[in-house]
Amino acid sequence: MKFCCSTLQLHICVWLVTCSLQTGLPYQYHFVMLKKNWTEAQGYCQEKYTDLATITNSQDLSSLMNATVVNSSEEAWIGLYNDINSWRWSLSDEYFYGTGEMEYRNWENAEPNNKMGQETCTTMDNVGKWNDLNCENSRSFICFTGTSNSYILFTQAKTWYEAQKYCRTYYKDLASVRNQTENDQIKNMIQGSGVIWIGLFRDSWKWSDGNNVSFHIWNSGQPDNEYGNDENCAVALLNQLGHWNDINCTYALPFFCYIDQSKIKKKQILSVVVQSSQDVSSPAVKATILEKVSRTLMMVHLTENTVTMSQYIPYNFTYVFD
Ligand SMILES: *[C@@H]1O[C@H](CO)[C@@H](O)[C@H](O)[C@H]1NC(C)=O
Ligand SMILES: *[C@@H]1O[C@H](CO)[C@@H](O)[C@H](O)[C@H]1NC(C)=O
Ligand SMILES: *[C@@H]1O[C@H](CO)[C@@H](O)[C@H](O)[C@H]1NC(C)=O
Ligand SMILES: *[C@@H]1O[C@H](CO)[C@@H](O)[C@H](O)[C@H]1NC(C)=O
Ligand SMILES: *[C@@H]1O[C@H](CO)[C@@H](O)[C@H](O)[C@H]1NC(C)=O
Ligand SMILES: *[C@@H]1O[C@H](CO)[C@@H](O)[C@H](O)[C@H]1NC(C)=O
Ligand SMILES: *[C@@H]1O[C@H](CO)[C@@H](O)[C@H](O)[C@H]1NC(C)=O
Repeated sequence: MKFCCSTLQLHICVWLVTCSLQTGLPYQYHFVMLKKNWTEAQGYCQEKYTDLATITNSQDLSSLMNATVVNSSEEAWIGLYNDINSWRWSLSDEYFYGTGEMEYRNWENAEPNNKMGQETCTTMDNVGKWNDLNCENSRSFICFTGTSNSYILFTQAKTWYEAQKYCRTYYKDLASVRNQTENDQIKNMIQGSGVIWIGLFRDSWKWSDGNNVSFHIWNSGQPDNEYGNDENCAVALLNQLGHWNDINCTYALPFFCYIDQSKIKKKQILSVVVQSSQDVSSPAVKATILEKVSRTLMMVHLTENTVTMSQYIPYNFTYVFD
């Protein structure tokens, strides 16, 4: 790394020769025997640890399972939840919408229902009602051209993301529906075209701590939202190798918290070589070196905190800083 060989302009020269940045430490998991619903468990973990457990690879899963105690239970909350309230328009320019128009909705009764746990995109039917549907379905779609409420209907079936790409390439975006007038206008255009994609979509599963869900290990057939629109939190199934299931967030269950060790153990060790004609063991020179090292590290954004000298060996200093 660049800063590892940084010359400090002084009447002495200091080279930072080695440094060990202790990052990438594994998460440390804690199994909490208390029975809480997902939200309460999240609050508990955020207060006492880092957060509800995030699992980013199979080694994390293995150490999470190692944190369980004998006969702990069959399932326990992890930090994964389905962000069912994140509905928003593909066209996100806020100036396009008047007050309240971003939030205009015209859902069919009992929709959105996230059937089978797979529905994060939106269709409109021929009476103008909306339904959530698996984005991988192929449907006709309607683009917004970019000039005041002017739309173009395409009857060539595409998945939601293909349709979005098409509208963004050749027009402005998939159509937003800002109010009843526009809903009627689009409804009238789509008669006889079946249900069509509009621009409304949402996020799916997220980690409580904001980490991306790049690794997932659902138990087979999961997530399935088995009991309707209510299975929006995830548990690790302790008798199924810790694989995940989606269940109702209201259940009272034990849970896993984690500590992100890289966030607490921030000690970084630098080894520094000093060349000087002066007596580097004198307190004044030591103080100068320390100050220069500190300033250099701040310049390379390595630290915002104080550098302290923990050890002194003539001509080879070791600095430990937080
Ligand atoms: C979990 O425990 C097993 C058995 O003691 C051990 O082999 C494994 O390395 C542990 N996994 C982790 C990630 O600590
Ligand atoms: C765990 O559960 C099994 C089966 O229910 C039982 O035989 C065993 O004694 C239990 N162990 C402890 C430590 O409670
Ligand atoms: C709906 O929005 C359009 C475009 O902003 C506007 O012309 C129309 O008057 C609005 N209709 C209602 C009922 O708010
Ligand atoms: C999550 O992934 C997105 C897209 O892949 C990326 O832009 C974003 O920076 C990632 N966020 C985090 C916290 O890693
Ligand atoms: C699941 O949670 C909802 C609240 O989100 C509650 O109204 C419903 O009764 C629960 N369903 C089951 C099957 O427990
Ligand atoms: C969890 O419990 C708290 C306190 O009883 C309650 O306020 C909250 O709505 C519950 N959350 C869920 C998702 O059940
Ligand atoms: C300087 O100190 C570091 C850390 O203790 C050590 O690894 C290295 O070998 C030392 N170098 C010299 C020249 O003594």
